[in-house]
Formats: sequence, structure tokens, C-alpha cells
Amino acid sequence: MSDGPTYGFDTLQIHAGARPDPATGARQTPIYQTTAYVFRDADHAAALFNLQEVGFIYSRLTNPTVAVLQERVATLEGGVGAVCCSSGHAAQIMALFPLMGPGCNVVASTRLYGGTVTQFSQTIKRFGWSAKFVDTDDLDAVKGAIDENTRAIFCESIANPGGYVTDIRALADVADAAGIPLIVDNTSATPYLCRPIDHGATLVVHSTTKYLTGNGTVTGGCIVDSGKFDWSANDKFPSLSQPEPAYHGLKFHETFGPLAFTFHGIAIGLRDLGMTMNPQAAHYTLMGIETLSLRMERHVENAQKIAAWLEADDRVDYVTYAGLPSSPYKDRVKSQYPRGAGALFTFAVKGGYDACIKLVNALEIFSHVANLGDARSLIIHSASTTHRQLTPEQQEAAGAGPGVVRVSIGIEDANDLIADLDQALAKATA
Ligand SMILES: Cc1ncc(COP(=O)(O)O)c(C=O)c1O
Repeated sequence: MSDGPTYGFDTLQIHAGARPDPATGARQTPIYQTTAYVFRDADHAAALFNLQEVGFIYSRLTNPTVAVLQERVATLEGGVGAVCCSSGHAAQIMALFPLMGPGCNVVASTRLYGGTVTQFSQTIKRFGWSAKFVDTDDLDAVKGAIDENTRAIFCESIANPGGYVTDIRALADVADAAGIPLIVDNTSATPYLCRPIDHGATLVVHSTTKYLTGNGTVTGGCIVDSGKFDWSANDKFPSLSQPEPAYHGLKFHETFGPLAFTFHGIAIGLRDLGMTMNPQAAHYTLMGIETLSLRMERHVENAQKIAAWLEADDRVDYVTYAGLPSSPYKDRVKSQYPRGAGALFTFAVKGGYDACIKLVNALEIFSHVANLGDARSLIIHSASTTHRQLTPEQQEAAGAGPGVVRVSIGIEDANDLIADLDQALAKATA
């Protein structure tokens, strides 16, 4: 397929990055289950190692199956390049790695997946990095948190667990004014519902474990680069703008232009951190992406019906779904998420913590698991699981208080899901 901006999402999700295998004509992308690639000769090997020629050296850095996935996700997100890695959490570290150094900080939304709050508030301290958490709806608070050592703003487009939708455009304007990139975790929205780069984001990260794969089979992550950020405009990003000692003084931005971040992610990030995606995982994710738009449409349609049903039920205190007409975010959904507000939200059960636990135990179709974005409907009580390591204040700020459960609505028959919730709510609130 030739490159062309005229192709629609449904075509690109099947074809972008792929072509019939040149050796065999295989129509589906083969799983290139190999660690290494034979060099044509010693000069070819040297050119590859010097980054003078692009090609395959060793599968910790690049692999042809993974490369197809990288091109596909980059295309769907409207970026210039992408780097896949072993998990969504790996993608977050890989995204920050070229930007940060000891003493640097990231300004992060309070409404994030609990594992990300823990990664940012605890683990990154060991690298000498830190995070400042702010309510990203309060733009003055975001501006106030940025200091001379801030190297990025980080948010989720549709935030886990509450399904809160972020005003990406407003945050991108704040980031631009401060000369720093905006990184958006687009896991829950997927590029079908929102393309953060179109709203001004510099980098997009994914846990491909979720909707992109869509069937709960493999973990993976991806970082997509918009190619639009000027890494040399100030002295904040020396890894990209200054000579790199590991490549004889090569300057990534000067040499690779808009692809600087992507090349750095592979040549330094994957080479030295080694958080590589394996070709089997890339294969499963490529299979999943082929039906992304179809699944997302059904996910949203089901979520809309189920959220409305729950909101009307007396056993439920409130529902956070941003797609409801009662949501304070309905205008934001219309302008930045026109295909819908996703399929992830929380609801509060009358009876609080105990009722939530009984509900989770009584459901039959919904699975009680620590995952989201599967074709199956999933439920979890975030406060006692994914957000367990957070303080009560952090749980409330993230929308994961003890009295709510999080659902990830699947693509089953919505009536069956409603019947399941109905019988489980009866037991939970009896
Ligand atoms: C929004 C979001 N981002 C990132 C992650 C981390 O992804 P992974 O589990 O693939 O490391 C998760 C995991 O649940 C998530 O929900």
C-alpha cells in the first residue's frame, strides 16, 4: 500500500506499515522469530552500528514484526514514528528517559492509573527524578507547578479509573508556553476516539496491553512521536540536542530532525534499557488493531447504554461516565472525543465499600480482573487493588475512592451485561 493521507482509519488499521513479505509473498505480517540479522558485509555492519544506515541488527533494538506495529500505531496516531516496548509502564519510562536527568521533574495529573501514580511518586525517585501532581482542570495550578527543572506535563486522555476526559488542547498550550512537551497516555481512548497529537500533544504513550490488542493476551507499550517539538529551542533537552558520547558525539536532533526522539528511543532507550517488545506480542497486537474501530464503536455503544441504566437505578449513587448528558464534561467530549467517551468509568454503589465487594463477587459475566480494554467486560474495586498503594487522598483525587467500582465495558450483548449488573446489585444492596 502506498503512503497517502487520503486513507481512512478503517483502512489504515489493517494496512499501515504492512506489505506482503518480500521473500515469500505472505499476506499476513510474519512473526520474525529471530534475534539477529545477517550483515551483507563488514561495511554494512559498521554503517548500521554508526546509525548511517537504517536496518536490522539485533532484536533488542529492532525487529521486522515489531517495526510494522510501530509504523501502524504511529500512522493511526498521526505521528512521525513510534517505539514499541514491553509494557505500558515501560513506555512511560522510555518516554521520560530522553527528557529527564537527576533533579528534573514531570508535572502529572492527579487522575492517572494507580500504577502510574506509584511509578511517578515512588520509583522514579531512584533515578533522581520527581513528579508534581496537580488537578489538570486547574490550569493555573498546572502553570504554578512548572519550574525551571520541569521537563514535561503528563496526563491520560480518558483517565483510568473514572473515565474523566482531559482538555488536551488547554494543557498543550500551557506546555508550549513553558517550552516543554505534553505527554498523553492515550490507552483508554485509543486513536479511534482521540488523537492527542491533533490537539497539540508532543508524545503519546500506550499500554498496548489494553484496547489496541483488545483480547487480553499480551502486555506491551508504545511511544508515538509527533515530530513537532523543537528539542534544540532551549537547553532543557541535552540528550536530544547535544553531542551523544555513546555515538561519537552525534547530535540526535541535528541528525534525525523530526525523528530524533524515535531514533533516540531505539538507539539509546531500547539498546541500553532493554525494555523490548517481542515479535509474538507485536503479532497479537497487530491482529487486535485490525478490528480496533469496530470494537471501539461497540465498546462505546454498550458503555453509553449501561452508564445510563446505572444512573437511573436507585441502588447506585452516581456514575462518572463522561458520555452521559449529566456529565460536566459533555462539551469537552463533543469537541475532543467526538466518537465517544470510551468504555471505562466508575460508579458508586449505595452501601459503600462492603457493597462494592459483594457486587464484584456476585457478577457472572463481568470478570474480576486487574485489566481493562478487553473484549470481555471487566470490573475491579480500584481502592483495594490497582489504587491500593495510594493514600486515601490520592485515591479520592484519582476518582478511586473506597465506595466505587471501575468497569471496563466489553463488546458482549448490552442487555446481558445489564441483567448481570441487575442481579449482582440486588445481592450487593440486599
Ligand atoms: C491508563 C494506563 N496506562 C498505563 C498502564 C500500564 O500498562 P501495562 O500494564 O501494560 O504496563 C495501565 C495499566 O493498567 C493503564 O491503565
